[in-house]
Amino acid sequence: MNLPASVRIVDVGPRDGLQNEPLVAGGPVPTAVKIELIERLAAAGLPAVEATAFVSPRWVPQMADQAEVLAGIRRRPGTRYPVLTPNLKGFEAALAAGADEVAIFGAASESFSMKNINCGIAESIERFRPVAEAAARAGVRVRGYVSCVVGCPYEGAIAPAAVAEVARRLLDLGCYEVSLGDTVGVGTPGRIRAMLDAVAARIPVAQLAGHYHDTWGMAAANIYASLEAGVATFDSSVAGLGGCPYAKGASGNVATEDVLYLLHGLGIETGVDIEAVAAAGRFICGVLGKVPATRAGLALAAQRGQAA
Ligand code: HMG
Ligand code: MG
Repeated sequence: MNLPASVRIVDVGPRDGLQNEPLVAGGPVPTAVKIELIERLAAAGLPAVEATAFVSPRWVPQMADQAEVLAGIRRRPGTRYPVLTPNLKGFEAALAAGADEVAIFGAASESFSMKNINCGIAESIERFRPVAEAAARAGVRVRGYVSCVVGCPYEGAIAPAAVAEVARRLLDLGCYEVSLGDTVGVGTPGRIRAMLDAVAARIPVAQLAGHYHDTWGMAAANIYASLEAGVATFDSSVAGLGGCPYAKGASGNVATEDVLYLLHGLGIETGVDIEAVAAAGRFICGVLGKVPATRAGLALAAQRGQAA
């Protein structure tokens, strides 16, 4: 079977990972720490690092320093730093802070859409339209997300056709790629494959990305099933950080270290240095007081005799 020869990884840890960190006694993760994390990930060779989210600080307090983070990064030529922008207000702030790529984020579940961005699916598309138009005028690339591509924390199973419809609408707005989010990590390879087949019937597979949370430990298997379907872009999170504040119980994205170990083991090129990513994971987990949620990262550390 033909797997892709190379894969592009988007590390979403600084956004998807950190958005879920509670504001504990110490307050938010310091802006300088976020910037160092992003710079370390870019230096590890990741072609894209999702840096922050221009969302309401009342909804996601951990992202309140979005403008300082984006403006503060020392950018590496060739690396992209996408940021989430749910509406025009977010897009304008992102542009002012120097965004060169933004992401609009919809869902295949009406209930999740309401909980996450306070509007239904149809209205979300209308809110995204001016963002996409303004981005086109400014020469900023737009990525699209569809959440709940397999299951929803409020509605249960989601029909593949519903995912395909929202993904198609995002592409029609001008997104260059649509990232398919298994937000609560309930997918298994068969269900992921059925969903991908439905979406790929309406969108070229080259314009799809997999964004799998690892709540049930299936993300690596789901990535393998997606590789078999021809998907060659995956989102992952350094040290497996994260979750979604509006999807209770969801764990972090599949760990970047684990994805790299899988892909490199298959002889698939990524251009990313797994050791450097694991070191970045130890750095951020040291600040957060957490053990990295990555089997490969922990195995690497054990091999080197380093503390996790
Ligand atoms: P709303 O309340 O409907 O917005 O929220 P509104 O337009 O009525 O404005 C209400 C207030 O928010 C106003 O302030 C606005 O100025 C402010 P007030 O006058 O009351 O002081 N506001 C903003 N502030 C900063 N930036 C903005 C912005 N827009 C309005 N862009 C809104 C709608 C979308 C803003 C809100 O629901 C929100 O911020 N939601 C974000 C939720 C979020 O970030 N979720 C996590 C990311 S999605 C995810 O994790 C899934 C993903 O990883 C894929 C997967 O795993 O499936 C991508
Ligand atoms: Mg996510």
